[in-house]
Amino acid sequence: MKKCFLLSFLCVLLLCLYNGWLRGLGGLTAINPTAVCNRGSNSSRNVTILLWYWPFGMSYNLEGDVCWDLYRIPHCRLVDDRSLFSSADVVVFHNRELIQGCQKLPLALPRSQRQRWAWMSLEAPVHNGNLRQFANIFNMTITYRRDSDVAAPYGELLPKETGGHLVANDLRNKSSLVCWVVSHYQMHHKRSQVYSELNAAVPVKVYGQWTKNSLSSTDLLPTISRCYFYLAFENSLSKDYITEKLWKNAYQGEAVPVVLGPPLTDYKAVAPPNSFIHVDEFVSVKDLGKYLQELAKDKKRYDEYFTWKQEWKVKLYTDWRERLCKICLQYNSLPRQKVYSDLSAWANS
Ligand SMILES: *[C@@H]1O[C@H](CO)[C@@H](O)[C@H](O)[C@H]1NC(C)=O
Ligand SMILES: *[C@@H]1O[C@H](CO)[C@@H](O)[C@H](O)[C@H]1NC(C)=O
Ligand SMILES: *[C@@H]1O[C@H](CO)[C@@H](O)[C@H](O)[C@H]1NC(C)=O
Ligand SMILES: *[C@@H]1O[C@H](CO)[C@@H](O)[C@H](O)[C@H]1NC(C)=O
Repeated sequence: MKKCFLLSFLCVLLLCLYNGWLRGLGGLTAINPTAVCNRGSNSSRNVTILLWYWPFGMSYNLEGDVCWDLYRIPHCRLVDDRSLFSSADVVVFHNRELIQGCQKLPLALPRSQRQRWAWMSLEAPVHNGNLRQFANIFNMTITYRRDSDVAAPYGELLPKETGGHLVANDLRNKSSLVCWVVSHYQMHHKRSQVYSELNAAVPVKVYGQWTKNSLSSTDLLPTISRCYFYLAFENSLSKDYITEKLWKNAYQGEAVPVVLGPPLTDYKAVAPPNSFIHVDEFVSVKDLGKYLQELAKDKKRYDEYFTWKQEWKVKLYTDWRERLCKICLQYNSLPRQKVYSDLSAWANS
């Protein structure tokens, strides 16, 4: 009896250890343990990334060794020639075209066990459509989310190699307290409510299609730079959904971002402290307005919102080729085996 108990205890322990080990490798479903040993047998081998079709139908030049020539990423062959399907390590599918039905998954083609299919989307969940049809198909995700297999943020901060310099406030030419650029205004958006409450407390200068006051791309940043604060309000409030409104408009436009989007912790994970103001940090929008007004008058405290620029520089991601080449950097640390058995649940979580 005692022996039996001990034995089952050992079994359970072993099972747990085994499972833990599998989990450590990041597998979501069944894993073939022997495959672990075959990893990286030839590290100088090219990884082939096949883009099945171009997002939004806009193609880029892939001549030469693009990943190396443009981004100094070695051993990475980026192709869009479908005849290379069988030799591709990763096949990438952009969600929008699949959802719209103008592109289809090559489900009839024989698919090797080691080939990974990647689901790529930079949209917030509400714009991804019904993903339930894609259960048990994809092996990896490429999205702006940090917990994607390959994270493809809209931008990020990179450490500066050489010591930077501060932009002195004296050189700043600010004429508006708060600015907002909005094209697709929708009353039900949280950002629209916050805007109207804020506008009741402090003056907010509004640009963009909504007010028939659009800025050309060359006017955008110079205009924002004349504002103390820029409302980097996302249209969707979803995990990690932080767009160029922060990275480009605010950070590059030299206005302090007031952000509305994912929770404060998501911003803190990617942006330095004292580089932005989160709407949630205030009990009320009125308090936020008061804070902005006081800050704009306090040159020293206002300037502290720019000290991050001494250490960090903004990197924007706009070219699909760069996002795709970056798959290669992480290729060797991808889980051996992974299947998104419920992509819809993942994408909406
Ligand atoms: C790795 O592959 C490259 C190109 O296919 C080849 O030139 C090289 O000899 C291989 N190295 C090893 C260690 O197998
Ligand atoms: C790897 O891919 C690049 C880009 O397509 C190509 O120029 C290079 O010859 C390839 N190297 C090997 C070892 O296959
Ligand atoms: C400051 O901005 C205004 C427009 O808001 C512009 O007319 C003026 O020339 C600027 N001054 C400097 C010193 O850049
Ligand atoms: C990718 O997903 C397919 C379909 O579920 C699966 O058969 C295959 O083993 C997976 N491959 C990897 C490398 O995870």
